[in-house]
Amino acid sequence: MNFHKNIILLILIIIFPLNTYAEQSVEEIIKGRKSLFNKNYKTAKRVDILSKNLEFDDAKKYMLVMQNNYLELLKYFPDNTKEGFGTQSLPTIWENKDEFNALMQKSADDLIQLASLIEEVEDIRGTLKKYMWQNCNACHSKFRKPH
Ligand code: HEC
Repeated sequence: MNFHKNIILLILIIIFPLNTYAEQSVEEIIKGRKSLFNKNYKTAKRVDILSKNLEFDDAKKYMLVMQNNYLELLKYFPDNTKEGFGTQSLPTIWENKDEFNALMQKSADDLIQLASLIEEVEDIRGTLKKYMWQNCNACHSKFRKPH
């Protein structure tokens, strides 16, 4: 009897901190991706203003910062982060993971495209829309809760 109690106690001692740790890291992941999206929003506004001011060198730098963030974001949607901590992510992400990842990758690739052609185009506003802003809506309309 005592032996069993000790075993159970031992298991609890081992599992409890692991659980707490897992819980924390879900929180870190969800907060981490929110923070990356917020950064990308700020960076996108910067890219927009710099491009319209014809400051292409700086604009391109920030396009590549965004591109990197998108690639980083690919790692921020593991299966155990579907809910909690105020996530606005929809379950559709995990039901269509390939499509979601492809859209993230496309958003990253489009920024490389944007950086390569922004200096040459006539229609800066339309080009920013096509290669940067449209990807936000394309993804949010299917994969993010209405807010
Ligand atoms: C491939 C999908 C995808 C793309 C592309 C994308 N987003 Fe999001 N975005 C999401 C998802 C999913 C969430 C919800 C994250 C969560 O709360 O778990 C989100 C959340 C956000 C948030 C809220 C963060 C918070 O604090 O809750 C902002 C702001 C945001 N996105 C801005 C943008 C902007 C601006 C762009 C384009 C420049 C963009 N996103 C492109 C999928 C995307």
